[in-house]
Amino acid sequence: MDSLIVALPKGRMQDDALDLFAAAGYPCDPEATAGRKLVFTDARGAFRFILAKPADVPTYVEYGAADLGIVGQDVLREANRDLYEPLGLGFGRCRLVLAGPAAARERDLRLDTGVRIASKYPRLAREFLQQRGLAAEIIPLNGSVELAPAVGLADLLIDLVDTGRTLRENGLVILATIMESQATLVVNRASHRLRYAAMRDILDRLAAEVARRQNVAEVR
Ligand code: PRP
Repeated sequence: MDSLIVALPKGRMQDDALDLFAAAGYPCDPEATAGRKLVFTDARGAFRFILAKPADVPTYVEYGAADLGIVGQDVLREANRDLYEPLGLGFGRCRLVLAGPAAARERDLRLDTGVRIASKYPRLAREFLQQRGLAAEIIPLNGSVELAPAVGLADLLIDLVDTGRTLRENGLVILATIMESQATLVVNRASHRLRYAAMRDILDRLAAEVARRQNVAEVR
């Protein structure tokens, strides 16, 4: 039987994702992950890992180019793909927030017209505005969104906060929390049915490792 293909997000969550597979019994040789290779296997050959841009992980999994994937819930909700989401993984925790200069706290956004909000998450931003009955213009950007208010491209931004350092160092404050996010396991629906035994085995192992970590964190 072919090895299952796992799409991992390049960047921030990549090492935590590989650590989780290692702790679940599927370590990779350090040599395999050290370079710039985008495809490699674990030491036992059970999985083929592919490294994709985080925003592309749901696409690889929905189309079946990967059987499983690891991706932040923020990216997942933005991508709005039809995937099975069996497990929150407990790392990559962050918040999606509305932020802006401190003076924006005094503004009533329902009365303001012509407010511009920069975001890497235009779909979630639109949903948030609709829920709040706000009529702002969304300016889609690809990154460094905190720059937008500083140069007058936008009044506010909707972006992720982890430590809060980027906001702080750019003179911005949180105005509202939109969602909490963490790394999530996603599974292609057809693979889940067709490769059930292998899929069940890895889901059980990952779930056991996530539960073990939660217990350790609670005892501390
Ligand atoms: C993320 C996010 C914020 C920053 C938050 O950006 O979009 O900019 O991290 O982290 P902090 O609260 O710990 O400062 P990332 O570094 O992924 O780069 P990007 O802006 O280019 O997407």
